[in-house]
Amino acid sequence: MTDGGDARRGDTPHRAPALTPEGIPDRLYGRRRGHPLRPRQDRLMQLALPRFRLTAAEASQAHALFPGTDDLWLEVGFGGGEHALALAAANPQVALIASEVFENGLCSLLTRIVPEGAEATVPPPPRLRLWPEDARHLVALLPDAALGRLYLMFPDPWPKARHAKRRFVNRAMLPVVARVLRPGAEWRIASDDPTYQAWVADQALFTPRLDTVQRPADWHPTRYEAKAIREGRTPRYWIFARSDAPWA
Ligand SMILES: C[S@@+](CC[C@H](N)C(=O)[O-])C[C@H]1O[C@@H](n2cnc3c(N)ncnc32)[C@H](O)[C@@H]1O
Repeated sequence: MTDGGDARRGDTPHRAPALTPEGIPDRLYGRRRGHPLRPRQDRLMQLALPRFRLTAAEASQAHALFPGTDDLWLEVGFGGGEHALALAAANPQVALIASEVFENGLCSLLTRIVPEGAEATVPPPPRLRLWPEDARHLVALLPDAALGRLYLMFPDPWPKARHAKRRFVNRAMLPVVARVLRPGAEWRIASDDPTYQAWVADQALFTPRLDTVQRPADWHPTRYEAKAIREGRTPRYWIFARSDAPWA
């Protein structure tokens, strides 16, 4: 996991990033690897993850992928996976795609659902798939109106102004996200970072098709949220509801 906010990776902030056709930076900002993996974690990554992962071809057919479910939700940057698994457990009628790029986070989620020794044989849960790549590119692949909810819980803040393009919430991503949310769908965002909080409020002004509504009671806590509160930061929460107006 990264705070997404310093220059320790030898950034080249003044060089314009290569962009996808949607205007999304092609390269991932942030860490994929932390501590070296232990043998069990290595087995989870090598043997279990391929059984759980969503392919790009499946992403573009996501409507058809989860027969018998009422809705499809996406969590971006699930960290340790506690929020994603709580969501899946509390909403048995919903299918969930959970995305995380940090290996130790992927292992943390897989550890909770794959019994030791069953890494090569465990059947993937029928309503859960993992996207272990940049979630911005997944969103670009999804069909129109595919999602009923998008969760972005405590995204890397990238507080420096020159890194603003790295934030998941930005002017390039807003139309991409709006396209995949069906009318009435919710985009739930939480952040404890003052710069990101001000940024979300500001971006919302440019997003007439997304309206702020009230925070609901079914908001599961995340590990990062607990840490923020412990360390004296005040999280803010938003729910944007997709209106049925076409994206201009
Ligand atoms: C600050 S952590 C928050 C984790 C978790 N949501 C929580 O609240 O505890 C942000 C997470 O987003 C992940 N992340 C950052 N950019 C991402 C991207 N483009 N696609 C998927 N995950 C990403 C990071 O690896 C990191 O684990």
